[in-house]
Amino acid sequence: MLSKEIRFTYDEFNSFDVLDPEISGLIDQASLAADNAYAPYSGFRVGVAIQLVNGMVFYANNQENSAYPSGLCAERVGLFFVQANHPDIAILRMVLVAKQHGQLTDEPVFPCGACRQVMVESIDRQKVPFELWMAGKNRVLRLDSADHLLPLKFLF
Ligand code: THU
Repeated sequence: MLSKEIRFTYDEFNSFDVLDPEISGLIDQASLAADNAYAPYSGFRVGVAIQLVNGMVFYANNQENSAYPSGLCAERVGLFFVQANHPDIAILRMVLVAKQHGQLTDEPVFPCGACRQVMVESIDRQKVPFELWMAGKNRVLRLDSADHLLPLKFLF
């Protein structure tokens, strides 16, 4: 028997001021995208900016539905849109924010399990990792690969 360990490291930024302007710009745009979320049931507005390796950036947000499970998280709305329209252009990074009562959350929001599953398959599909940035007012976290969030992933 072998005992094995899985570890990953991530970067934490405690101020927006220390961020590269390109990243803070993406956070601002993801925050604007969150304002367009359709979230009448939860009031929790999530926004993403997805930047491709060719520099194109796409935005998405959560889309809820009165038949609750029919709604979809911002991350999957964004990933599915990008992969539907630009299947051959790799994703470079995703930036994720959430807002409540018109304000960015204090802490970063982490993707739900289903979105993690879609992220790992997106990375498997494009054969290169993409960065995941999660921004809250108090701190911003950066993972060099989103698939760190789902070790022992299901893929077949
Ligand atoms: N939501 C997202 O869009 N992304 C996440 O990572 C977590 C949750 C959405 C789903 C639902 O519309 C609302 O936030 C509350 O759960």
